[in-house]
Amino acid sequence: MHATLNAIADELRRLKASGVKDVVVSSETMVALRNAVETRAPKTQPEQPQVAPAPVVYSQLRQPAARHTAPKKTEPKLPPPPAVTLPEGDKKTRWDALLNMVTTNPVCLERVRPGKKVVLGVGNLDAKIFFCGEAPGAEEEIKGEPFVGPAGQLLTKMIQAMGVKREDVYIGNIMNWRPDLPTPPGREQIGNRPPTEEEMLYCMPYLRAQLEVVNPELIVALGATAAKALLGFDSFTTLGSIRGQWKEFEGKPLMVTYHPSFILRTPTNRTKRTVWEDFLKVMEKANMPITDKQRGYFLGK
Ligand code: URA
Repeated sequence: MHATLNAIADELRRLKASGVKDVVVSSETMVALRNAVETRAPKTQPEQPQVAPAPVVYSQLRQPAARHTAPKKTEPKLPPPPAVTLPEGDKKTRWDALLNMVTTNPVCLERVRPGKKVVLGVGNLDAKIFFCGEAPGAEEEIKGEPFVGPAGQLLTKMIQAMGVKREDVYIGNIMNWRPDLPTPPGREQIGNRPPTEEEMLYCMPYLRAQLEVVNPELIVALGATAAKALLGFDSFTTLGSIRGQWKEFEGKPLMVTYHPSFILRTPTNRTKRTVWEDFLKVMEKANMPITDKQRGYFLGK
């Protein structure tokens, strides 16, 4: 049940970050959530009559609780972020050294389950465009390559729709490992969770180093996690409020758009068109040729 609760919480967090304000939660889910909480928490209140609650909306679930004590400072779980210094040499030499640094870093290695891999970005070291996602998922930590699962396959199609190949761009993530969820020993992790700020800060030097090696013309932040890590954790409230806008990361133009998994969850032409319009802006900025056909993608109902 714990993994399922985490998956639901993860999904709600993602939806919220994507700008979704309300989501209907069925009575059955509410009952299941309530039962799960009740079986874990000691009962201090007398039994309440069991009444199936009416469907509630997400915004109602997020009412801030009154605080009577000072907020607990969370203990750091990670050492300070690593100092990453690249050697002299050509791009390949520097990238290979970086790959070696991250895949032998004991802090990263400790955070992947047995048989799974630490993941660095992949692609053309001379790419004009650097796509940045959130973190490896189940497929990525097996293959040791970003964006190879369902969201990755969609991203690859979107890149191809731009008229280029996956191998022509660079694709990385904020995180180098898949954020863990409590999982019984010997079992596969179910679901994903967004990384904590501490985890993102720990991995950021590796992302900066990849940007230093590739030195792209522009960056595309895919989803709220990437946007927050690159623009600042408090730089926006909802992704919807900043997507489609040019921002900057260390002097480089940065386009913020939705994560491909958002399209997978909401595969309407409207969602696809929204993201595609952001991609068209990227193509324009990168001086890529754009056909009328490309301009018209996903305009239908
Ligand atoms: N989602 C991401 O953000 N990155 C991946 O590599 C895969 C899925």
